Order: sequence, then C-alpha cells, then structure tokens
Amino acid sequence: MELNRRSFLHSAASLAVAGGLRTGSAFDRSARRDSPVIGDRWAETRAQFLLDPGQLFFNTGTLGSCPIPVMEAVKQASEWINAEPTYGYYVRCAPRVEAARVKAARLIGCSPTELTITHSTTEGMNAIARGLGLRPRDEVVITTHEHHGGEAIWQRLESSSGVKLTRVSPPDQPQSESQIIECFDRALGRRKPRLVSVSHILYTTGMKMPVKALAEWAHARKALLMVDGAHPVGLMPVDVRDIGCDFYVASGQKWLCGPPGTGLLYARAEHLERLEPFIIADTKVVSRADAQRINYVWTDNVSGIVGLGAAIDFHTKIGAARVLEHDLGLIRRFNQQVTRLPEIEFLSPIEDAFRTPMTALRSRRLKNTVVFQRLKARKITVKEVVDDHLHVPMNAFRVATHIFNSDEQIDRLVETMREVL
Ligand SMILES: Cc1ncc(COP(=O)(O)O)c(C=O)c1O
Repeated sequence: MELNRRSFLHSAASLAVAGGLRTGSAFDRSARRDSPVIGDRWAETRAQFLLDPGQLFFNTGTLGSCPIPVMEAVKQASEWINAEPTYGYYVRCAPRVEAARVKAARLIGCSPTELTITHSTTEGMNAIARGLGLRPRDEVVITTHEHHGGEAIWQRLESSSGVKLTRVSPPDQPQSESQIIECFDRALGRRKPRLVSVSHILYTTGMKMPVKALAEWAHARKALLMVDGAHPVGLMPVDVRDIGCDFYVASGQKWLCGPPGTGLLYARAEHLERLEPFIIADTKVVSRADAQRINYVWTDNVSGIVGLGAAIDFHTKIGAARVLEHDLGLIRRFNQQVTRLPEIEFLSPIEDAFRTPMTALRSRRLKNTVVFQRLKARKITVKEVVDDHLHVPMNAFRVATHIFNSDEQIDRLVETMREVL
C-alpha cells in the first residue's frame, strides 16, 4: 500500500512539474490496477486507497475514501477543462458525465430518464420535498431516526407550509418486518398520509429498514414512498424497481467512494411531470420529460461527476453483493469481539435481516465524545453519533466497515477499545 501511495504521490508531483498529464503515466498505472479487485484479493483492493496507513478509519458512513482510479479520473477531467476550457468541458467531459448518469441508473435498476445526478442526499431530499407542492395538512410520515439531511426539509415544510409531520419509532430490536410495519399502522390509524419518507439504513444504529414492505404499506394508503438511500448505494445491491419506491436519493461520497459533492436522485417516471423543478436554469426545462428537469444547470462540477462514474466502475467491478459480504464479514468479527467487553452496550439490531456493516455502541461509563477522542488519540476514527440531532439521545458511537478495512484492523480496534474504555 505504501508503495502505491508513494508512487501515486510521486507520479502526481512529477506530472505537475511536467505541466500536465499528457505523458499518461498515472493512467498506465490505473490500467494495471483495473483487474486486481476481481476475486477475493482484498489486499489488492485496499492498496487502491491512499488512506493513511498510520490511521484506522471506520467512518465510511460519513465519508468514504476515493480509490486511486477515482482520483485519477477527477484529475484527468480537471486537466482537460483547464487546458482548453470549453472544449475540455463540453467535448471531453460532457460524454463522460452522461455515461456516469447512465451507469448510476444501471446501478440502482432504473431507466436513465428517471435518474439525475445531484450534489448530495440532502439535495435530493430537498428537490423532491419542495417539488411535490405539498399543501397545508398534507401528512408526511418519517421515523425518529432520520438524519438531519433527510429530516430538516420536512421540519421546514411543517413550519413554513403547514405540512403535518408524523414520526414513527421503529423497535430497537425488531424480530420481523411486520413488527416494524405495525409501528406505522399504530401511529397512523386509518389516516392516509401523502408521503412516507424513511432511511433505507438508519444512520443511528445501522438498522436496515424493510423499504419494500413500506412501499406496499404506503401504496395501500395511496401515499408515496421516498427513500433516503445515503448508505446502501455502494454497500449493497439496490434495485429501486424491486423496492417499488417512488423516489430514492443517495450519496456518492460515502460507500460508493466517489468524490464529495456527488449524489443520485431517482424519481419514478410517472411522477416526473408533476414535480416542480428544484432549479430553473432555462424555462424550457419545465417541458422536459426526464429526471434532469429537476436540477438542470448550465455549468456543473463535471470533474466530480466524471469521478463518480469512475467510482461506479470501481464498485461494479467488485460487485455490490461481494462488497456487502466482505463488509458484513468484518462487522461480524467486530460484533463478536466487542460484545465480550463488559464496558460496552450494543445498540444495533441482532437479527441478520436488519443488520448492516454499521454497528452503534455505547460505553456504560463514558460520554461518546470521550470515546471518540480517546480512539482518535490512538489514531482510530469512528463516528460520534451527535445527540443534538436525535429525538432520543443515544450517547452512541458507530463503527462502519468497508472494502478498505481488514480483519487485522478490526482486531486492533477492539484491542484499543479494551485499553481505552
Ligand atoms: C441517512 C442519511 N441521510 C442523509 C445524510 C446526508 O448525506 P449528504 O451529505 O450526502 O447530504 C446522511 C449523512 O450521513 C445520512 O446518514
């Protein structure tokens, strides 16, 4: 890994000195790297990341790390634009931007006409929530575990437009999907909400929500289902048609390991026409029939989107199912060891059907801030789940495992936790 890291930095530096990437040496190296991710050669996958070898990183749930081919794609696009701005942007980058959009649609199982690239999950949430033209007393149902990026817009519409917001508390340890659905039944009674908006994976505990069953539940009440998919894309197979949701929004910078400032928005074809565009860059946009009508702009951060396309390629070569299997294997190893620490309370679901590679924990003695800081002092990054944004304070910290983590790192994490907690 150190070799790759050093050689990347060296090649980037010498290219800068040479005044450009035209010598192409960085890309020769990336071409050699195209195949290693196939098979179970995870060490070679890990070598694609420039993560500091002196640090352990377990917070992909907030931000992933871009592998070298993604950084190279961003660099290449940026060089094209800066060498010859209009030609670089419109002729060299634009087709790659379109290709990234088509790949993103394939990745989540929709038509390219139903997908637009955004800057984040939060932006996607805002675009749909504002675009639906909700009226006073229209009811929106969310959970008590939504991330602020998925919840704030509903709170705003509650105060500014009189939308009625109802929060459902899912059980901490569900035994079955129907137990979760019953919570929605109980909270709503016979009411018919306009929309249900839930996270596919809760950022607090890492619990996987039964979104397919929730789509059926919402549709039976003539409501729409919007899914905050900040976590699943890049972590597990996602098929929006199979889920049956109406809207699905996702982040590029987390599990997909794409550049920050990239995201996906899926809107089912039949809803597109009645969604008010989020941005009006051209009045003609309103008559467009595809998802790009939602956020069409004249000029965008195309190097980031080209990087997103490369991130989708990188992820697809490994395969979503294999990523999930790997990441779950690591978190299982962690969970098994960590439950032996008497200081620790385990807050994530135990049932496999609801588990993901994100585990939330609480120290019986220490504040989560202290746990975070003690681990950070030992060069380990976990996520401090900030209580300010929660309806029920958890004092939790969260460990996420992804393709650049290893068994050995998990063992070091647990060992360090044993020492500092
Ligand atoms: C469930 C969930 N939704 C939304 C967000 C915000 O994502 P973004 O930064 O892409 O807007 C996060 C970030 O952690 C999240 O966990």
